[in-house]
Formats: sequence, structure tokens, C-alpha cells
Amino acid sequence: MRLCRPYITVGDRRVLHLHAVTRNKMKLLILFGLTLLCGVESLKVLVYYPLPVRSVSMLGNGVVRHLLDAGHEVTYVTVYPLKNMPPTLKQVDISGNEEMLAKDDSLSISHMLENNVQDNDVLHIQEFAKENTRQTFTNKNFTKFLQDTSQRFDLVFSDLFESEVCAGLSVVYDCPLVWFYSMGAHWNVLRLIDEGRNPAYDPDYLTTNVVPFSFLERVEQLWARIKYMALKTFITLPDEKKMYEEIFTPLVAQRGRTLPNYEDVIYNASIIFGNEHNAVKLRPSTPQNFKYIGGMHIPDPVTPLPKKLQDLMDNAKHGVIYFSMGSFFKSKHLPKSLVRGLVKTFGELKETVLWKFEEDLPDLPSNLHILQWAPQSSILAHKNLKFFITHGGLLSSIEAIHFGVPVIAIPVYFDQFTNVRKAVENGYAIRVPLSYDLPETLRPAIKSMLTDNTYKKRITELSTIYHDRLVPPGKEMVHWVEHVVRTRGALHLRSPALNVPLYQRLFLDLLAVILIILYIIKRIINNLTRKTSKKTDKKKKN
Ligand SMILES: *[C@@H]1O[C@H](CO)[C@@H](O)[C@H](O)[C@H]1NC(C)=O
Repeated sequence: MRLCRPYITVGDRRVLHLHAVTRNKMKLLILFGLTLLCGVESLKVLVYYPLPVRSVSMLGNGVVRHLLDAGHEVTYVTVYPLKNMPPTLKQVDISGNEEMLAKDDSLSISHMLENNVQDNDVLHIQEFAKENTRQTFTNKNFTKFLQDTSQRFDLVFSDLFESEVCAGLSVVYDCPLVWFYSMGAHWNVLRLIDEGRNPAYDPDYLTTNVVPFSFLERVEQLWARIKYMALKTFITLPDEKKMYEEIFTPLVAQRGRTLPNYEDVIYNASIIFGNEHNAVKLRPSTPQNFKYIGGMHIPDPVTPLPKKLQDLMDNAKHGVIYFSMGSFFKSKHLPKSLVRGLVKTFGELKETVLWKFEEDLPDLPSNLHILQWAPQSSILAHKNLKFFITHGGLLSSIEAIHFGVPVIAIPVYFDQFTNVRKAVENGYAIRVPLSYDLPETLRPAIKSMLTDNTYKKRITELSTIYHDRLVPPGKEMVHWVEHVVRTRGALHLRSPALNVPLYQRLFLDLLAVILIILYIIKRIINNLTRKTSKKTDKKKKN
């Protein structure tokens, strides 16, 4: 404690004695200050990713990787456990959650083709999230883990997808909670830490409408919110509340505490991390505890390509086109006729085409190559890549900007329509609808991509904006996680709006007061006019 030295250079005993007391106090204070400011040595973090969706779990993997690299201990609740990990990572295997998707045929690519699902079914999505939570909290491995009262955590880091029940984990471990939202700053998550922005200029999270809205679009936006909140409040929330009480009452009781109100817990997160970044225009303003860390899942530098693929891309004289429909929807589930049509379309090109396809295809043209597994980041990083044909998933959209690769996007489901809307709005993408005519409709899009360089120019600009930041997104995330623990929940970042009820925010009470006053004035005027008219009546009679 060299810092305390100046205080003990006094000669007098009494003074020294007094100073010794102050010195001890100082020591304590400084120690306390140090633990507050830099005392985060190794944190114990519970990272919770219950969705059986590979792309979302890749975000979880990114979070875990950055926390481990920063020297923290992580317990990862995951559907896809990682292999060959250091001892600072413990995993709770909830791979049983995958069954849920297998049962839901509305989530196959052929269903999407048949039904042309442009409109997302909000209630279905909410039910899906609820069911996912139910399944996770009845998973054998996870319930066993929760029963262990010796577990301690400094922070709960949870994926945020449509259901907030898991916020109860922060009550179980009596520690701060941070959410990671796999999309951007949408009103439906901002409302958990602040308030949703105005629907007149802040699009709904599943819309394809673009700002500025026409009159009808604006009404549609308002309606989307009313519908979402009505379904959430009257159908989903009561079930969630019940589930929260059933799951967490015993767990919290085992630890000698009582369960707080559901509403006090779900609006109590310290930070929401958003999977977006500054290179996306027309984002709503965000509260100070919403942090953009989009791109943190991308390995930097990328892992080298396998030798064969590296040679293939290096030697592609006319450049390379990469086609992948992501990990959720498999190309192998596409109808045979559509696959044959696409093979023909790609065969007509002189460029080398890489298609991520999960099984072998016979009789391929010489420029078309099938990859059963594709190291996407490394392919996108290659200098010979011309563009990327994608379903517009959240990770692919960010990777396209990270590596500066323009895209042709074929959105299929959920947020893909929104991601693709943003990509088109930002000028680096062409949208092609998913249909049986895809082999035909893709042709002109490919031609524009190859001949018109505005897409490439635009994405290069965006990529420059994206990379122009103080620190890489993974480092930023770790900083805020540590900050939350150091400051015991970062209460200083919270928005005052959270404590103001909706009727006050909308000044409905003022409106009520004005209406009452107007009513009283009207009554007074009525009374007066009645009296004066009676008087004049009397006078007339007289
Ligand atoms: C809300 O979060 C803060 C900071 O993490 C914590 O101290 C407090 O106990 C939490 N409240 C509830 C009701 O969980």
C-alpha cells in the first residue's frame, strides 16, 4: 500500500496514532475502491442460450469465447455443446431442446415455399419461445444444475428471444442480468430497459416497411405494436408469470429467499447487447444501457481455408460466387426440380460457384462445387469472392458488411425479411423472393451483381464505417460485462422512463384534467345561460 505512505511521515506519537487509524481506514477505503474499480479478476458468468437454432448459438459461442479469452470462468447452458474447451468452461448440455424443431413442420423450407409466409405469426413465435423455456427448465441436466445450491455467479448473460421468464436466473444467483438480443434496437426489447420508440418512425421488428412511412404503413406499424402487446399482455404473459413462479419459487426458497414480482425482475436487466452496428442507417435512438456489439461472433483473423478450397478460390479466374441458405433451412430440403433448375442457372456462368449443400449432387457443371460444410467467414474474406447469395440471416447480414461482400438475398422466414429490407435500404443487396421460379428470377439479379458495381461500392463504404470503432465488438462486450459487475448492476445507466407508467408518459392524466375542467366550464356556462334566459323570460312575462 505505497499509496498511504505520506500519512505516516509525521513524528508526534499522538498524531501518528491518529494517523494510524486514518491509515487503516484509508487502506480499507482504497482496497474497497480498487475492488470497485479494477477488482474484477476472474468473474463467474452463467451464459444461457436455450434456443435450438444454430445461428443463435453461434452468437453464444462468440460470447463464451470472448469471456474465456478475458480470463473469466463460464458456465454455458447450450443446445450445441462445444468440444475441446479449456477447464474454465463448464457446459450444461440441453441438446434435448432440438426435438422441438423436429416436431414443428411449419419451420421447413418446403412449407415456406408452399405457403409463401411473408407475414410472421406473432403468437406462434411467442408460444414457441414459451415452449422452449418450459422445455429447458424441465431438462434433466439443467434441473440438476439448478438444484446445486453451491453454485455462485457474478452475472447472468442470457439470450433474449420473445420470453423473459429466464430473468429469474438472476434472482436465483442474486446477481445482475444482461440480455443479448440477436437483432437490432427494436422497440419490443427497448421497452424492457426504457420505452419503445415512436412507431411513426421506428419500424416493427418483423416488418418490411421502410422509413419514411406512408399513411397506411404508419397505421400498420401502430397496429403491429398494439397486436404484439395485446397478445403478449393477455395471452402470453399470464402463462409466463405462472411458469416463473412454478420454476423459481422453490429454487429461490432453497437459497433462503423469497421470489420478487415477475414485473420487477423482467424490467431489471443492467444492459441489453444488440447484434447490430453503426453501419446500419435509420436506427432508432437507443438508451445508454443498450450496446451495439454486432460482429463480435466473427473470428478475427479468420481461420485459414482448407487447402483444397483455398486452391479452388485462388485459381478462380473469373471470381467466385458463394451460395448458402444458412444452417436452419437446409438446401437439401429444397424440391428436386428447384435444385435441378438452380444447377442449370449456375452452370451457365463463367464464375466459379460454391454452394453449401448438405449432400452430394450428381452431374455437376465444372464451375459448380458443393460444400457440405462451409467455413463461411473464411470464404467471405477471400479476395476473389464477388458476391454472396444468402437467406439473409442475422449472422450472414453482418458478415457481409464485415467482409465487404454485396449480397443477393432470398429471405425465408422471421427476421430475414427485416434483415433483407435493411440490406436493400442500405444499397448493397438485391432481394429475390423464394419461389419455384427461383432459377429464373435469380438470373437477372446475378447479372446486375456482376455488371453494376454500385453494390460493391456501397458495401465497401459500409464496411469502412463498421470497422471504424474504438475497440472491436468482443472487447467492448467484455468491458461492459465487467463494468456491470464492478458497479453492482450499473444502476447509473438506467433510464428514468422505466419508472414512469404509460399513462404518465402519454400525459393521459393531464388530458383527463383538461377534459374535466372543460366539462366544468361548460356546466357553469350552461347554468349561467339558463339563469339569464330565465330572467329574460320573467322580464318578458312581466
Ligand atoms: C435488480 O437489479 C439490481 C442490480 O443487479 C439488484 O441489486 C436488485 O436486487 C434487482 N432487483 C430485483 C427485484 O431482482
